[in-house]
Amino acid sequence: MNPRDTHFDTLVVQEVAPRDGLQIEPTWVDTADKIALIDALSTAGFTRIEAGSFVSPKAIPALRDGDAVFQQIARRPGVIYVALVPNLKGAERALASRADELNLVMSASQTHNRANMRMSCEASLTAFGDIVRLVRDTSRATLNASVATAFGCPFEGTIDEDRVIAIVDTYREMGIEGITLADTTGMANPRQVARLVARVLERVPAAALTLHFHNTRGLGLANVLAAYEAGARRFDAALGGLGGCPFAPGASGNICTEDLVNMCDEMGIPTGVDLEKLLALSRGLPALLGHEVPGQLAKAGRNRDLHPVPDYVLQI
Ligand code: COA
Ligand code: ZN
Repeated sequence: MNPRDTHFDTLVVQEVAPRDGLQIEPTWVDTADKIALIDALSTAGFTRIEAGSFVSPKAIPALRDGDAVFQQIARRPGVIYVALVPNLKGAERALASRADELNLVMSASQTHNRANMRMSCEASLTAFGDIVRLVRDTSRATLNASVATAFGCPFEGTIDEDRVIAIVDTYREMGIEGITLADTTGMANPRQVARLVARVLERVPAAALTLHFHNTRGLGLANVLAAYEAGARRFDAALGGLGGCPFAPGASGNICTEDLVNMCDEMGIPTGVDLEKLLALSRGLPALLGHEVPGQLAKAGRNRDLHPVPDYVLQI
């Protein structure tokens, strides 16, 4: 099949603020506030929400309450609640807490994988093999695997595209259905994105491929559009543009969900997401987190939010 021939134009947004967004926040967000945020996001039209991670509480103290969060959220039918998992222990916790999908993460860069996961890529893949068996034997959860630093590494620099493709092939051979290409520290550019997406779509259906961009160098939405035009249809984004990997120097926020949905609305690309609800939620983030957030739409307003004409103009 020609990957461009996808027969649908909808862009699926997976909201990741409860995971990628909160993992780097220095101020503790109470379990009840996390649950309230996820419950509110569940009513905004998303079909997928990454609601937390099951990693070492020493590595990511901000998300150490993932078990309680997953157990207490109000699950909305039609919404897939995803959990990020690094190892077998994390998978056991995620399944016990009824995550619908497990997102396994390994970096294309050996150095970043050692910084983030404290193990080699080979050790991560061995753990993934154990997780796949556990999930298949004991649950109906689905599996996604992410290639972090797929477009560049803050330690190693350029990442060989053939290595990314080889990892994608390995994930698929392991029986993992979903694939995410993650630009962990915003090093991707639109031409690179178009090239890599086209190659991956020769092996993975568009409905199973997610692109995960960070806006670290201001190219987030340009990369989304390049990926979309190359045939990708699923994108991670975080409310308010929160986010970042604490083990990647210089990391900053994900692409901002409401900025992305606004771009899609203006371009006539359906997302199914309620932008007014998102804006209200995003405008509540500074009070929750104690700082301004990077998203631009919540500050600027929508195109349709017009300003009163000044008196001096009316008099001309
Ligand atoms: N959930 C809870 N605790 C876990 C765990 C998990 N998934 N995995 C390991 N632990 C605990 C162990 O029980 C052990 O606890 P103890 O010190 O009380 O005995 C401790 O963590 C160390 O375990 P070990 O297996 O030696 O882990 P490590 O120190 O080599 O770290 C990871 C490996 C993968 C657990 C850790 O690097 C990690 O969680 N990384 C994720 C980072 C992240 O989320 N980055 C952002 C998202 S990409
Ligand atoms: Zn990220």
